[in-house]
Amino acid sequence: MSGFSATWLALREPLDLAARNKEVEAAFFEVLPAEAPKILDLASGAGSTVAALAGEKPDIQWTLSDYDADLLSVAASRKYATRPASLQTREIDLAANLMELPFDGVDAVTTSAFLDLVSETFLTQLVEAIVLSGKPFLASLTYDGRTGFEPVAPLDQELRDAMNRDQQTDKGFGPALGPKAAEQAIALFEARGYRVISGTSDWIIGPQHEDFVAEFLPGWVGAGVKQGAQKSRADDWLKSRRSQIADGAFNMTVGHLDLAALPA
Ligand SMILES: C[S@@+](CC[C@H](N)C(=O)[O-])C[C@H]1O[C@@H](n2cnc3c(N)ncnc32)[C@H](O)[C@@H]1O
Repeated sequence: MSGFSATWLALREPLDLAARNKEVEAAFFEVLPAEAPKILDLASGAGSTVAALAGEKPDIQWTLSDYDADLLSVAASRKYATRPASLQTREIDLAANLMELPFDGVDAVTTSAFLDLVSETFLTQLVEAIVLSGKPFLASLTYDGRTGFEPVAPLDQELRDAMNRDQQTDKGFGPALGPKAAEQAIALFEARGYRVISGTSDWIIGPQHEDFVAEFLPGWVGAGVKQGAQKSRADDWLKSRRSQIADGAFNMTVGHLDLAALPA
């Protein structure tokens, strides 16, 4: 088990699917082989990348990787709107064994909601593996540090700053890049001669996402408190946000960046 439950990933998936940047995806699709591309997906969780891309390109042959066997089994057994051509899973601790993955044996590499968890050392190793194999890479939904609320409240910025500090703590790969991950990945790929197309993929959260926010906000505030936000003020902030949610008067955006890194 990882810290990511299948229930949580299912709650966020509709927001992820709506947010994904179609231009970035189109640039990635353009360089794939026309028929039956083999794609290696990193940190696949419950198969959100498959759910996102299968409709656009149903003949993908997927290899999903993650260290959470339960999530991989959800990914392997779930019913996708469009059934992929084939799907196999590989249980692997990416922090320890990244280089065991078959970068040379696939046509492309993908990931989603993952790069912000990793360290600079791991990201450099990953970019190196992708560049040496000459494969295109699609990284979707990397958190980029922007979080906004409507209506605004005095504590928003302090909580967001604290939360962003928490994003840079160790998530199993050493100190995480957090909000700096996508920009760092772009710089590393460009330095190796790759062409990078990037664009935002923000979550636009409104009254219709009440179940998601009920789960998301307490964790978000808790992480901020862990990083120094004052608990009593944070509790008041959450109480007031809960009443806005109940009134259908709460909106939030969470900034992400998608990027396609393509061999020259
Ligand atoms: C935020 S979830 C994203 C899952 C999926 N890509 C998605 O978009 O829904 C992060 C994923 O990274 C996986 N993960 C975290 N650390 C890992 C590690 N060291 N090795 C393999 N997978 C890891 C977790 O199990 C989880 O599935």
